[in-house]
Amino acid sequence: MKVNGSDYRTIWMEPDGTVKMIHQNELPFRFRIFNSTDYSTTISAIRDMIVRGAGAIGVAAGFAMAQAFLQAEKEKKCADFILQAKAGIEHSRPTARNLFYATQKVFEAGLAGGADAAVFQAQQLAEEDMIMSAAIGQFGNELIRNNFKILTHCNAGRLAFVDHGSALAPIYEAHRSGKHVFVFVDETRPRSQGARLTAWELLQERIPFDIISDNAAGHFMKEGEIDIVITGADRIARNGDTANKIGTLEKAICAKYFGIPFYIAAPTPTFDLNCSSGIDIPIEERNTDEVLWQTGQTRHGNLNAVMVAAPGSTARNPAFDVTPAELITGIITEIGVIKPTGENITKLLNPS
Ligand code: MRU
Repeated sequence: MKVNGSDYRTIWMEPDGTVKMIHQNELPFRFRIFNSTDYSTTISAIRDMIVRGAGAIGVAAGFAMAQAFLQAEKEKKCADFILQAKAGIEHSRPTARNLFYATQKVFEAGLAGGADAAVFQAQQLAEEDMIMSAAIGQFGNELIRNNFKILTHCNAGRLAFVDHGSALAPIYEAHRSGKHVFVFVDETRPRSQGARLTAWELLQERIPFDIISDNAAGHFMKEGEIDIVITGADRIARNGDTANKIGTLEKAICAKYFGIPFYIAAPTPTFDLNCSSGIDIPIEERNTDEVLWQTGQTRHGNLNAVMVAAPGSTARNPAFDVTPAELITGIITEIGVIKPTGENITKLLNPS
């Protein structure tokens, strides 16, 4: 992606093993690169959402696993060190399937071929992430007609992957191919990934958009202002039930009611055949301070946290919800667009 005229990836690993990532907690107010020189710092970056979004979390997890192998080799650590690192990575954020996929791949590569093989595999996963996202853009573009108004939730854009994105990739491709598109950006409380990150990305791309409050989408659907909904996914079960950012379920129910196509965009590492349905998908519950407090920029340019609830309130903060397959029109993958049925998903993941 281009930022201030220079090319960036959301996350990458330097030859010396340092993992670099765009500091997403400081966007859109500051653009800064965060450096992590050891696997435990990379775990903290995933947990604290310096890097976030299923694709980018997966790549970060792969890099963290590779850093653990590098550290083990350098500091002559025993096998337990690697197993502890793996467990730590897997505990950092429990919902995104991509994290487990990447950790396991790099773990196996490292066991078989040592630190160099682990690093090679982690870099390979980062490259694949970009290739899959670009292909999702191509397939998704075919669903977008000229002058479409598109609703998206959270941030499933360049920042949620190494580049391109999932839900935003088709929008970028449509815009690039000369179609006029307009995006309704759900604010996406409590962390406001829509208002902060999706809006920031669309500004870079000069794609017109409006941020809407999280409870406004139903109104705009009823008024006939939304032609299609596209969101990302953190995990897709074998039957097509899909976990994504909290609030996605409500958008899908509204879209069904008003007859608006509702698409999920996700690469194949987001599918989890071990989950037979959405009931099996673990839902992360985050610190309730994210609901009770908001951080933003003051008129004087300082970043400040303010309380936005009655002092003494308690809260709940599930980070994701599950949209049943029956509410999903189709899933846009790097291989093509499928209807979310068990049969289609099994065929997609086991082509013969
Ligand atoms: O909590 P986040 O910001 O990591 O959640 C991100 C989302 O829910 C995205 O929509 C999802 O990861 C799909 S895009 C990779």
